[in-house]
Amino acid sequence: MSHEIIAIDGPAGSGKSTVARALARALGWAFLDTGAMYRAVTCEALARGIDVHDQAAVGALAESVALTTLPRVTVNGRDVEEEIRTDQVNSAVSIVAANPIVRQAMVARQRRWADEQQLGTVVEGRDIATVVFPNATLKVFLTADLEERARRRGEESPESVARRDQADSTRVASPLRQADDALVLDTTGRDVGEVVGEIIACLMKLHLS
Ligand code: DC
Repeated sequence: MSHEIIAIDGPAGSGKSTVARALARALGWAFLDTGAMYRAVTCEALARGIDVHDQAAVGALAESVALTTLPRVTVNGRDVEEEIRTDQVNSAVSIVAANPIVRQAMVARQRRWADEQQLGTVVEGRDIATVVFPNATLKVFLTADLEERARRRGEESPESVARRDQADSTRVASPLRQADDALVLDTTGRDVGEVVGEIIACLMKLHLS
């Protein structure tokens, strides 16, 4: 690993994207939302009429498509920034994310992306600290109450969020799991700046030790 990496994991609506984005901005580091990558592959599979349960077909798609997450989420040049948050994608993405061929392809892309950065990186997802970057400088696991997590997800119901958590935590391939050495932060009722400040304080402490 050539640069510093802060790995942020946690369930849907725990505040990962918001916190990771604000943290990257505060540090002047690059940011990667890996959930957007699984969502973009799901969008493309649905658009092409591929059965999301067909592991070989979706796996081949994940290996071959061109993906970007910033400044916009695109797949093969098509802007899917809004489409990745639709109900259809919310209910299919856990199936795509449980596909081991898809995971292998995404993990390789995520590592390649981090290698290409000139600065430190903040990467958020479900398996970032446990699988993708087990040697990350700092590992953070965010949690929050289900009600608050559903509220943050806007239109998505608590049942849908809970269903996705269950699927993400119990799948065979890289389930959502808290790394043993992660800093665990409950974001319920806390504002972004406070959580970001706590993570930066922890990073400073690591640098000084
Ligand atoms: O964080 P999110 O809700 O945008 O993630 C979308 C889906 O992708 C979610 O069901 C979990 C899955 N995911 C994953 O399995 N591994 C990651 N590193 C990131 C997301």
